[in-house]
Amino acid sequence: MKILVTGGLGFIGSETVLALISSGHTPVIADNLYNSKIGVLGRIETLSGVRPAFYRIDVSDKKALADLFEKERPEAVIHFAGYKAVGESVSKPIMYYRNNLMTTLSLLETMEEFGCENIVFSSSATVYGTPKRVPLYETDKRGETTNPYGETKSMIERILEDACKAFSSLTAVILRYFNPIGAHPSGLLGEDPRGIPNNLMPYIAQVAIGKRDKLHIFGNDYDTADGTGVRDYIHVVDLAEGHVAALKALDGKKGAKVFNLGTGRGTSVLELVHAFEKANGVKIPYVIEDRRPGDVAVNYASVEKAYRELGYKARLTIEDACRDSYNFQLKNPDGII
Ligand code: WQD
Repeated sequence: MKILVTGGLGFIGSETVLALISSGHTPVIADNLYNSKIGVLGRIETLSGVRPAFYRIDVSDKKALADLFEKERPEAVIHFAGYKAVGESVSKPIMYYRNNLMTTLSLLETMEEFGCENIVFSSSATVYGTPKRVPLYETDKRGETTNPYGETKSMIERILEDACKAFSSLTAVILRYFNPIGAHPSGLLGEDPRGIPNNLMPYIAQVAIGKRDKLHIFGNDYDTADGTGVRDYIHVVDLAEGHVAALKALDGKKGAKVFNLGTGRGTSVLELVHAFEKANGVKIPYVIEDRRPGDVAVNYASVEKAYRELGYKARLTIEDACRDSYNFQLKNPDGII
């Protein structure tokens, strides 16, 4: 299948493009390079032998999108393009609502215009809000999100559900990621945030190579075994495979379907730090700080539905992800050029 991958040069997008190529699909990449680097395109070619068609466009630009659809005629879209930093979304809410919603609305209007009836959407566990209990099931209601980033994901899920009801020919697969970590084992692709990393794993990796002096752990007074926050960390290579598996759900049975993509296991901040130290033979100095506003104590997935309906199960371990993250950071101390 020819598949448009919006945000296809990003951390998860680029791994997914690789997985699509190795599964015999033809990805076409649209990315505005707001949070990615053009150097990723050459690295995808190095790893796969294929240089996918690349359009440097903003997905909210309907004219540019129409030109792409006219030329490429994609049969499906995997939609990653969007801003994704929780903290930034709290300080810049209008930028997040405008960008994340406008890109999606422009995309859906263009898909309708060109008869493209399949979309896989990159959603997030944050749509569950503060969990009343774990693990979280796809049937759990979308909750009171704790930040504008999460709220845009929740709103887009609702837009897709309503669009599927209105257009009898649209199939939407909504993938709720938990916490993507790790990197491609080659060290050529990985999480390469601009500036100070918001997320835990890239921050640990930068401490490990001496780019940051210590990790700041946001709170050790949560109601968890060691007091630090617990999350469901899934290796980004597994996450990419989950997107290939999700294409099976584009089965012509119209409507919106939701799947959690995680491991089904919770890992605390301190457990991840210790796993990283053990996997790589390094020491990660840290200091305990106050809790971060918007954080929840515990968040992990039930992964039964993806296994039952897609035959999908994450297979890589936390240790694999720690090794791959460190390897990527060592090989790209100043990020991907
Ligand atoms: C994980 C744990 C922090 C940084 C968010 C989004 C999610 C996805 C991933 C995009 C928490 C603690 C973190 C640090 C720390 N977004 N932490 N020190 O907030 O669970 O999820 O990012 O892909 O949709 O909601 O991820 O990595 O920021 O935090 O102690 O320097 O690590 O308190 O317990 P989060 P995270």
